[in-house]
Amino acid sequence: MICKITKKKLIPFMSFGKMPIANGFLRKKQFKSEFFFNLEVGFSKSISLFQLNEHPKPKQMFNNNYPFFTGSSKGMIQHFKKYSQWVKKNYGKKIKHLIEIGSNDGTFLSNFDNKKINVMGFEPSKNVAQISRKKGIKTINKFFNFNNAKKFKKLKNNIDVITAANAICHVPNLISLIKGINFLLKQRGVFIFEEPYLGSMYLKGSYDQIYDEHIFIFSLSSINKIFNLFNFELIDGIPQKTHGGSMRYVIARKGIFKKSKRVNRLLLNEKLKNIDNYKGCLKFKKKCENSKKKLISMLKKYKKNKLKIAGYAATSKSTTILNYCNINTKYLDYICDTTKEKIGKYSPGMHIPVVSMDHFKNNPPDKSFLFAWNHKKEIFIKEREFTKKKRWFAHIKI
Ligand code: TMP
Repeated sequence: MICKITKKKLIPFMSFGKMPIANGFLRKKQFKSEFFFNLEVGFSKSISLFQLNEHPKPKQMFNNNYPFFTGSSKGMIQHFKKYSQWVKKNYGKKIKHLIEIGSNDGTFLSNFDNKKINVMGFEPSKNVAQISRKKGIKTINKFFNFNNAKKFKKLKNNIDVITAANAICHVPNLISLIKGINFLLKQRGVFIFEEPYLGSMYLKGSYDQIYDEHIFIFSLSSINKIFNLFNFELIDGIPQKTHGGSMRYVIARKGIFKKSKRVNRLLLNEKLKNIDNYKGCLKFKKKCENSKKKLISMLKKYKKNKLKIAGYAATSKSTTILNYCNINTKYLDYICDTTKEKIGKYSPGMHIPVVSMDHFKNNPPDKSFLFAWNHKKEIFIKEREFTKKKRWFAHIKI
């Protein structure tokens, strides 16, 4: 097994077993042809990088029917508004050109006035790219990589700010992506992106962050080391609450800007907490194994007491939990969700029916597995009555 960046040997340290595509919600007739791979993680010591060993091809995941719409969550709309305001305040005084990698339905880019700033999104999934275009946002329906970036010759070294959110960890050929950034970014330009944070995953034991689309789980140490290989450097890091704990990274060409005190402090903290080394991986592995045992015994207890259990929100993350812990319809009657593309289908691997929110309202379970635990604030308010009766549970503390 080889590190996707250094091409050096990777230390595989944990397998979550046979896993389907996390967002591969399917119909009954597709059960027999379902695709599985071994979800195994490894660590690249020289750059402190936590990564998947095997992963399906990106085209299998980001196809014409990608079932995730940023704009479907009020919390995310709000977050992207604040994120855009932060970019404008800190890096946007004179910006003329801004690019977003993985722009989804344009939720982030719609916060910029495209009469004043040239904004452009790269979005490989056709259905979401079309929604973004309908909002009047220039959207390239392609993966962002060196080859596709090079096609914009006029924009060479002309882009002030390149941004991304929850997209970079999806890209197996990170080297090509960084070369694309190098091609387009101005000398004093910055690349700002947010991703689920390894430190938060370790702390919470939220192993459900690990699935086919999350090829890497980054830390400040790994990002610092990766970008250093390409003449860039990490100049700031700002912790975020999204996705159960994310990190916003700011990257610039080497020697242009001063590194913030905050990023130096956070980097030191990663050393102290073993987030930058292999010890942290082994500790995390133990945490996952214990969490699995606890969850299964809790579900068995609920069933023994004849409780009706259902899942709330058919998230991509839920695929890892359900398949790793082998939780099927013996335990969960259904999973309710708001996404019309998922309703009427079955969950990947464990084949639990996905139903509408009306079904949840009309057939409330005794206990509900909150798979969208990262949106709990929004959901607890929406489901006030259910919350009052303390009926939620999850594989981690919520
Ligand atoms: P994700 O975690 O893979 O991004 O998916 C989030 C899923 O959660 C998506 O299918 C929509 C669903 N969801 C609900 O059903 N109700 C909610 O209140 C929220 C916030 C999300």
